[in-house]
Amino acid sequence: MSNNTNVRIYEYDAVIVGAGLAGLAAAKELTEAGKRTAVITKLHPLRSHSGAAQGGINAALGAEDSTELHEFDTVKGSDYLADQDAVELMCTKAPETIRWAEHMGAAFSRDAEGNIAIRPFGGQSKPRACYAKDRTGLAVLQAIYEQAFRAGIEVFDEWYVADLLYKNDKVYGVSAYNIRNSEPAIFNAKVVMFATGGHARAFRFNSNAHANTGDSLSIVARHGLPLEDMEFVQFHPSGLGGSGVLISEAARGEGGRLFNALGERFMTKYAPNAMELASRDVVSRAIMQEVREGRGVGKDKQSVNIDLTHLDPQIILTRLPELRELAIAFQGQDMLKEPIHISATAHYSMGGIPTTINCEVRKNPIQTVEGFYAAGECSCVSVHGANRLGANSVLEALLFGRHAGENMVKKLNEGIKLKKATKEDANQMLEEIRRIKTSNGNERVSALRAELQAGMTEKAGVFRTKISLEEQLSHINALLQRFKNIRIDDKSNTFNTDLQEAIELGHMLEFSKFIVYGALIREESRGAHFREDFPKRNDEKFLKHTYAYMDNEFNITHEWGDVVITKFEPKERSY
Ligand code: FUM
Repeated sequence: MSNNTNVRIYEYDAVIVGAGLAGLAAAKELTEAGKRTAVITKLHPLRSHSGAAQGGINAALGAEDSTELHEFDTVKGSDYLADQDAVELMCTKAPETIRWAEHMGAAFSRDAEGNIAIRPFGGQSKPRACYAKDRTGLAVLQAIYEQAFRAGIEVFDEWYVADLLYKNDKVYGVSAYNIRNSEPAIFNAKVVMFATGGHARAFRFNSNAHANTGDSLSIVARHGLPLEDMEFVQFHPSGLGGSGVLISEAARGEGGRLFNALGERFMTKYAPNAMELASRDVVSRAIMQEVREGRGVGKDKQSVNIDLTHLDPQIILTRLPELRELAIAFQGQDMLKEPIHISATAHYSMGGIPTTINCEVRKNPIQTVEGFYAAGECSCVSVHGANRLGANSVLEALLFGRHAGENMVKKLNEGIKLKKATKEDANQMLEEIRRIKTSNGNERVSALRAELQAGMTEKAGVFRTKISLEEQLSHINALLQRFKNIRIDDKSNTFNTDLQEAIELGHMLEFSKFIVYGALIREESRGAHFREDFPKRNDEKFLKHTYAYMDNEFNITHEWGDVVITKFEPKERSY
């Protein structure tokens, strides 16, 4: 596929990239409104990472809860960086969104009265996480996939989107190739939405699927469009020690307790009121601090213990069955009988492609791009600010995915024109593929990726300093140079995973540079971003969103954007 003569051009009203909760929710709305919609995804939709969400989806359904409390907890959890208009929209629409999911067929667990069961999660004033055992994301994903399928969405699965068609402030499609046989195509559309999920694979220990390589972020950035708040990467407190595989916050929500090697319940020092149910940034730092000070457990002393043995075994067997199986399979530890080893794992990205409250992609803090939308983890509508509360991401993906779908329907009904694509629009993708396949250097993709991931975890992880970040920035610059000198062995056109991994590595190197750059210029500590050399939050200088831009030489510049503050003035946080 080196020239564009065999490029097929498909035409749609809407093209959605990504088939997790956000993408499918949008596609369902569009299709039901009679809009021809293509969903392009590198996996089968049911293998999307939304299906890995374990513990819950937030909505103020409890008798003593309120949407305003949900808003407050979210804003406080965000360390006051979330945009409060977007938070208000999310929290007020959350109860209706849960009912919508339930009516679509999502089988939530029930309490004794037969209501949707709710459990406590970190940073919440009241129990609020609705759940389906410990497979909540999968239950919701299966329901929405079935309904979107029934509505008639067209899915191009195992297709890889390599570029965005963007000219004169307008997006009019994507270029992609079929992973099965490398057939290239243009998907020309009146509106395009990115819903490609997260990018924590850039870190060595992470809870993410292999597919979460953040491709859409650098695809956007390569066109000179900004990425917002990329420095804020969430470390989930409980990844299985050594592998990072997620052990849901539900384990602490159901009563799990954390202990160090001395048997101390160390959260008494860090969050005496909320204890294990403080917000994730606080608990992750506490765990890593215990490890740094030599009180870790496990072979390499890099973990702490989570103990659930005091719970009624029925709680584990009925509400946390998958967690138990994971710990047995990966570590040979049965949580019914003994504590299990966990450690902080890169989990979620608060930053991403900036959008308005209506999911339109921003060209800068003020203007938007015509025909371009984003929702879910790849986007930054900024409901999470500097730190996301557990169980707000399934909510965000479902709710804003649907909201984006509704807004695209409106835009299409207003009569947005199709800008016709040509075969030449595939040239950038074809050139990237040619360059990788013909490059005959001596660098290996897997080795470069491992170096990137190790550096991100060590130097841009839970704790950061100017020195560690500068080191990582120069390391990434060196890796970007070495990347030009790679060689892949598979030159074929059939399921060429060598090629795909090389393209993905290019993206990972580029967006990682945004993470490190943002972390360097933000000389304060806020939420998940902790600078040991600037340990305090500094609202005077940094109560701002970071908008960062990349040029063709991978140089990054930035400007600041305003935070929307409506009801809740920033305050000191304590848990
Ligand atoms: O811990 C968990 O179950 C993860 C949930 C989330 O990230 O929202």
